Amino acid sequence: MTPDWPYPFWIAHRGAGKLAPENTLASFRLGAAHGYRCFECDVKLSSDDVPFLLHDADLQRTASTEGTAGAMPWTALSALDAGGWHSAPYIGEPLPSLARIAAFVLGNAFTLNLEIKPTPGAERHTGEVVAHHARRLWAAASAPPLLSSFKPQALAGALAIAPELPRALLLDALWEGWQRVARDLACVAVVCNHRLLNADTVAAMRREVRRVLVYTVNEPDDVLRMKALGVDGVITDAVDRFKP
Ligand code: G3P
Ligand code: MG
Repeated sequence: MTPDWPYPFWIAHRGAGKLAPENTLASFRLGAAHGYRCFECDVKLSSDDVPFLLHDADLQRTASTEGTAGAMPWTALSALDAGGWHSAPYIGEPLPSLARIAAFVLGNAFTLNLEIKPTPGAERHTGEVVAHHARRLWAAASAPPLLSSFKPQALAGALAIAPELPRALLLDALWEGWQRVARDLACVAVVCNHRLLNADTVAAMRREVRRVLVYTVNEPDDVLRMKALGVDGVITDAVDRFKP
């Protein structure tokens, strides 16, 4: 960790991976109880532009409800059960707003990798609104959230609104032109699927950005391989297996 890179090596995926309901405050608490100090989570917008945590575009898998999350207002979303699908102890766990997660993260002096996960069709707007709130919520923080996205349009929206917040391009494949996009968006990092990484691809990434992070690394052999390749951070579900 340095002043220009305040993020530790170990990052808990969706709060605490699979041990608690992903992207809920309960998952952050569990990740923290396992010693994690940096968290990845997915953020999108309600129909009335409240940023909140959810991975999927629809509510079926993690909130047992029909429909597109981004089509519902925050008053309705905030009343849903985002924990019961996981296990009985978490019944009633709510979908958290970004403001609620920011309060937890900042109050504990943790850091955050905020993945902008727009509802399809709302890429740029989601980037803009999330950046606006992130700038406001983290105004007095010593470490800003790292904004990442698979969607260049979302990162472009964030860049337009809050250029001072660091950005990372998420890569699930090395698609044609990713280097130019990372450059144009002034990304400080790429966050890539660990299966894409070898000595050649790491070298190509380091020519474009200062930091290389990987997701989602859950096996000890893969961790060793990533360390040998010199990555700057690992996003994992296995918070009970890997001790930061
Ligand atoms: O941000 C890294 C990782 O979370 C990207 O994949 O689908 O788990 O959001 P996903
Ligand atoms: Mg994610």
